[in-house]
Parts: sequence; C-alpha cells; structure tokens
Amino acid sequence: MDNPVGIFDSGVGGLTVMQEIIEQLPYENLIYFGDTARVPYGPRPLEEVRGFVFEIINYLVERKVKLVVVACNTATAAGLIEAQAHFDVPIVGVIEPSARGAVQATRDRRVGVIGTVGTINSDAYSKAIRALDAGVTVYSASCPKFVEIVEKGMISDANFLRPKTYNLAKSYLTPLLRVEIDSLILGCTHYPLLKSLLAKASGNDIVLISSAEETAREVQTVLSRRGQLRESMELPEYTFVTTLDPNGFMLLGSRFLGRKITEVELVELAKRTRHRTVS
Ligand code: DGL
Repeated sequence: MDNPVGIFDSGVGGLTVMQEIIEQLPYENLIYFGDTARVPYGPRPLEEVRGFVFEIINYLVERKVKLVVVACNTATAAGLIEAQAHFDVPIVGVIEPSARGAVQATRDRRVGVIGTVGTINSDAYSKAIRALDAGVTVYSASCPKFVEIVEKGMISDANFLRPKTYNLAKSYLTPLLRVEIDSLILGCTHYPLLKSLLAKASGNDIVLISSAEETAREVQTVLSRRGQLRESMELPEYTFVTTLDPNGFMLLGSRFLGRKITEVELVELAKRTRHRTVS
C-alpha cells in the first residue's frame, strides 16, 4: 500500500523516530509533521496537548495516511488512548513500545524513566510498564532543561559531554542511580541525541532504551499484521510539514534526521493555508 505513514511531534524531536522508521522500513512513504509553532509541549497542560493531537491527526488523515505515529512522549501521554478510540486509522504511540523494551531489558525489575514534566507527571510510563509486569518498580525523573539544550546544541554543534551539561545530567540521574535502576527509558524523542552523555552519566551497566527503535519495530509489526506494508521497491517520498519557520525546521531538522531536508511545507492549522519553501 503506497499511502504514507504520518509521523508527528511538537517539533523536530520526532525526527529521531522517523530516522529509525527509515532504517527499518526503507520503502515506506512518510509525512513528518512538526508543530514548531507550539513547541514545547512538555510544560503545557495535558488537555491542551490532547487538543493538538486531535487537530494534527485530523490533518494527517486528510492526507490519507495509513497509520499515524505519535512520535512525542508528551503527546502520547496526553492523548493516545483518546485518539485511538476516536479515529479509524491505526495510531502508534512511543510509550508502550519503550515500556515493552524496558520490561524485556530489566534484570532486577527496577526501571528508570526520564522525560518532560508533562510525560513524567502523567504517570503514563509507570502504568504502561505495570500493565506488562506488575512486579517492576518504576522510578522517574523529569529533565526540563534537556529539550532546550539539545535544540541549541544541535544548532551550535556543541559537545554535549562538556562539564556543565554532564553535571546537569548527573543531577537529574542521581536519584535514579541511588535506587539502583538497571535500565533507563529515554522517554523523550530529543534524548537519543544525548545518548553518549546519558551513558556516561549513568554508568556502563545501565541499559538505555530509546523510544525510536522500539516504536519503529511496532510500526513494522502493525503494518505487516494489517497487510499494509508498501510492496513497491521504488524510492519512497518523504514530506515535511511545519507550523512555523520552514527554514529553521530545515536547518535543525536535517541535523536531527541525519540527512538533508530540502523542502518543507508550512501549514497554519487554524487557517489551513499551505505554502511551500524550497532551499
Ligand atoms: N518531543 C517531546 C517528547 O517526546 C518533547 C519536546 C516538547 O516538550 O515539546 O516528549
């Protein structure tokens, strides 16, 4: 089936999920939607984010997607269940796949989760993990400064291992390390870019679980179960849509995705006008 898979996030973070989907499903057509006009979602009330989730999925459904990936932990925590109940199109979030990855990885059944304030306060990870194994204890910590650090750092090519960032990571992780977690979920789509920093700050024995890899696997499973994998082996089309500043999206997005983005559409959701920016 040639219809695209729709992927969305508050901004560019979900491109780490897109990158994994490209890796695992290299023939699928993809539309990526980054809601850069309203980023960050992390500090916003969950009901507000839920409204954004519905608005964006409606838009993607109009563009005939065959599956939607909510490539944002905060948006998944805020609205995945409600969206799945409302829309006919299958919708995959990032929380359950990571929870499954953690339950498989943990030896001592002590799992740590880091994410935005919205994700951590929603308790969505604890619920998802306990639904899979009620014997796992979940310890979580919000890391409110990481999203900004990643975005600024990606623009200036900063080395995330510099002492100031390392100390911040250490202070976020220390409470989790004290209770001897053995696996750590990177519960925000920006965090895979901090993997080396987080590995260093948490020590080598802790397994880091990224939403991106686990979610891409889930997309493959759902499409294959529904018989909807693309059969054509022709090069796929990647479309990028943003709600603000297409040039900024092109620059930062190319770094997140690890490949050059050359064309971005601007959509103002409220007005539904579509322009096209080509570099
Ligand atoms: N990408 C979002 C997530 O995975 C975090 C960025 C934001 O706060 O909007 O939760």
